[in-house]
Amino acid sequence: MSSPLRLAVLASGGGSNLQALLDAAPGAPFEVALCVSNRADAGALGRARGAGCATAVLDADALASDAATTATLLDAFARHDVNFVALAGYMRKIPPDVVRTFKGRMLNIHPALLPAFGGKGLYGHRVHEAVLAYGVRWTGATVHLVDEEYDTGPIVLQEPVPVHADDTPETLAARVLAVEHRLYPEAVRLFARGRVTIDGRRVVIQS
Ligand code: GRF
Repeated sequence: MSSPLRLAVLASGGGSNLQALLDAAPGAPFEVALCVSNRADAGALGRARGAGCATAVLDADALASDAATTATLLDAFARHDVNFVALAGYMRKIPPDVVRTFKGRMLNIHPALLPAFGGKGLYGHRVHEAVLAYGVRWTGATVHLVDEEYDTGPIVLQEPVPVHADDTPETLAARVLAVEHRLYPEAVRLFARGRVTIDGRRVVIQS
């Protein structure tokens, strides 16, 4: 992989994880080369522009079909020399051809300890609502490689977060997000330093 690693971050929402990656990049072996969103009003795009990072918005035509999304994404990645992708609150499924092109080079962050509380329909606050409804004492954050399903790719890093008796989805989300902001840049750093090998479902990290 070329050095430094050139990252595209895909985000649909506020972009606090994008911000954590932007903040970690100076001095790190990666840079955020591009931020892509499916929503023109995503807070993530403003954060990217504020950091002088290139942005792209997928318009309705690009989102009309998998083939069009694939062509638009791969073209944007090529124009910005992107060699690694991080999904950060991106609410659209990534077309299979893009997943295959970036196999082993595309990460997602999920606000729970996968494989619990993941899968289709479990995103954003729904995850924390499900965690509280189930009554687990621990939740957490997971960084995993992206495969063609929802939240099922090999796990790179996880960190537990306690659930408090008086938590609401909002208080729990905030506690988990604080961990996400540390974990995601750490995971990208490990890939950028060539410390990660993938052995089937198992991700091996050299210390
Ligand atoms: C995070 O909780 C992330 O784990 C999930 O979506 C949320 C995005 O938050 N995939 P933000 O836009 O990065 O603030």
